[in-house]
Amino acid sequence: MNDIKVELIDVVKEFPIQRGETTRFRAVNNLNLDIYDGEFFALLGPSGCGKTTTLRLIAGFEQPSSGQILIDGKPMQGIPSFSRPVNTVFQDYALFPHMSVLQNVMFGLQMDKVPRKEAEGRAVEALEMVRLPNALNRKPKELSGGQQQRVALARAIVKRPKVLLLDEPLGALDLKLRREMQFELKSMQQELGITFIFVTHDQEEALTMANRIGVMHDGNLLQVGRPEEIYETPATRFVADFIGETNFIDGKLVSHTAHEGVVSIDDETTVTAMIGADQVANGQAVSVAVRPEKMTITAYSDTPPSTEHNIVHGQVAQVFYIGTDTRYAVRVGKSALVNVRVQNTAAHHTTFKERDTVTLSWERSVARILTH
Ligand SMILES: Nc1ncnc2c1ncn2[C@@H]1O[C@H](COP(=O)(O)OP(=O)(O)OP(=O)(O)O)[C@@H](O)[C@H]1O
Ligand SMILES: [Mg+2]
Repeated sequence: MNDIKVELIDVVKEFPIQRGETTRFRAVNNLNLDIYDGEFFALLGPSGCGKTTTLRLIAGFEQPSSGQILIDGKPMQGIPSFSRPVNTVFQDYALFPHMSVLQNVMFGLQMDKVPRKEAEGRAVEALEMVRLPNALNRKPKELSGGQQQRVALARAIVKRPKVLLLDEPLGALDLKLRREMQFELKSMQQELGITFIFVTHDQEEALTMANRIGVMHDGNLLQVGRPEEIYETPATRFVADFIGETNFIDGKLVSHTAHEGVVSIDDETTVTAMIGADQVANGQAVSVAVRPEKMTITAYSDTPPSTEHNIVHGQVAQVFYIGTDTRYAVRVGKSALVNVRVQNTAAHHTTFKERDTVTLSWERSVARILTH
């Protein structure tokens, strides 16, 4: 395991009372987080959850209301942003319009009194790294959005920060360019060995790029883990819902052990699933979370495929053919509408139509019991 690069300990950020409000607004609530040296860490969450505020606290543009931030083990309190070993790429690039690309990239080095020749050499190198070696003398407005993005990136890496903070850096790009830049950013990060803290509200982007993801909601850090941990074993209903697609089948917990629980759905069927929530009690209303691709749909049958499988019966409400997959929306019990995805492999010929009575099955180990 690498060393801890950035450490947040009980970090709280409250903003002053504004007109019409009665309490201080808490944008970041008791954040505890270790980010490791050389890691690509994604901070993921919906708009307003506190991602930018967290980056600004690490960068030193904001001070925590309480708690501590350490970089390389050193407390950052009282250390101004320009003295921290950190650089930020802002979403709007913030390039100087009157300067050429080269001057934009050299600017920070010149402010640091790096000799002109050396600054120029380093700027050219950084522009090669972002694959923009032929635009040195152009002005930002003569570049496309994606190219301006790369200049902003070159300007940040030229100073060789130990930590690069990126706030939704690909937000303004179209999907194709975004995919290309995701790939390039990831290779660049590996090449440079810089720690990246990358803010995004795009779950797919976080899953594809990050070594680890921290999911935020309403100022709280809900879960931190590798992409597959976050996807396969979400700790809360919010995480399960925000990352990928999830079915929630509501029911009541009948009995449980430390790892597994039995849930009754509409007092008719029971299913067994892994305990996902921190704490559960028998009799409590819970949801069983199952991903659509983990379910199998078959013609009505009372026999589960194995003792490790759950089965429920339902009626097909809608069929969506989407080329690679067919998606069935199946009504289960009184209220749940469950989505099932079936990959359209050559061997898969069974198709169902609306109002067919079907059986859904899934392995116990892929379903998680979560609370509301
Ligand atoms: N200077 C400020 N004064 C008061 N409230 C603020 C201030 N800065 C941010 N906030 C509030 O703190 C919350 C978190 O804001 P933040 O910008 O960190 O969200 P975010 O997760 O980056 O959202 P987005 O995805 O929309 O950029 C928001 O409700 C915001 O209105
Ligand atoms: Mg933001």
